[in-house]
Amino acid sequence: MIRVVFNQKGGVGKSSITCNLAAISASQSFKTLVVDLDPQGNSSHYLLGRPVQEMDDTVFDFFEQALTISSQRKPMDQLIQPTQWDHLYVLPAHAELETLEAKLESRYKIYKLKEMLQEQLNEFDCIFIDTPPALNFFSRSALIGSDRCLIPFDCDAFSRQALTQLLDSIAEMREDHNPDLSVEGIVVNQMQPQAKLPQMLVQELIDDGHPVLPVHLMSSVKMRESHQLNTPLIHYVPKHKLTGQFVELFKTLQQ
Ligand SMILES: Nc1ncnc2c1ncn2[C@@H]1O[C@H](COP(=O)(O)OP(=O)(O)OP(=O)(O)O)[C@@H](O)[C@H]1O
Ligand SMILES: [Mg+2]
Repeated sequence: MIRVVFNQKGGVGKSSITCNLAAISASQSFKTLVVDLDPQGNSSHYLLGRPVQEMDDTVFDFFEQALTISSQRKPMDQLIQPTQWDHLYVLPAHAELETLEAKLESRYKIYKLKEMLQEQLNEFDCIFIDTPPALNFFSRSALIGSDRCLIPFDCDAFSRQALTQLLDSIAEMREDHNPDLSVEGIVVNQMQPQAKLPQMLVQELIDDGHPVLPVHLMSSVKMRESHQLNTPLIHYVPKHKLTGQFVELFKTLQQ
């Protein structure tokens, strides 16, 4: 199963959701890969404990190799890094990824990621892709290469507007490039059950027929702390309510 976590809006919880679902998947003995396509490298840093600037083997090499005909290729198992947790691996991002974008685009390399991910399905049970907050070459490659798309939604009015545009973009990708792509669901993140506006926005989405997933993720300082400590919630605070919601969400996605 290949899943992309995407929303072109920044800061909605893409990296947090990608890494925490992936860590739960791995903790349940599914061999799991996180592909980080965001040059900010938040997921790579979160799971590997060091900034992407310090990494030599990253997804940059994969895309650069897609542009060159050279026999001296780095094999994927050199680029994919094990984490300190069993069954959990990361293909790290790289800060300079965007410097390759124009070339990759002009030379029609949009299907290269899909080919590589299909090969990795021989190795991995579950692949999660974290994307940058933009509909660019890398996020479009991810949408083309995935079976399912999860959309984090952070309950503000701008997110509501962005969502319509986002669902249109996904429908267009499905139509033009990837008939297998389905919207797995909208993940409501940083829900504050006491506040009225978020509840109204979520209800509006449901009334409009959008696939809002039944498990909502609460806002908790534990998330920031877990980023700070480079330790996903399932290992940092396994009994916390937010962790329980992630486990429940993962279970829902498995059905
Ligand atoms: N459920 C939550 N409770 C509290 N804080 C959260 C929660 N989810 C995410 N955050 C915090 O919100 C911030 C943004 O989250 P995250 O980096 O996952 O978003 P993103 O969509 O990946 O951002 P970007 O678009 O920049 O890549 C982070 O500081 C993270 O710790
Ligand atoms: Mg992110």
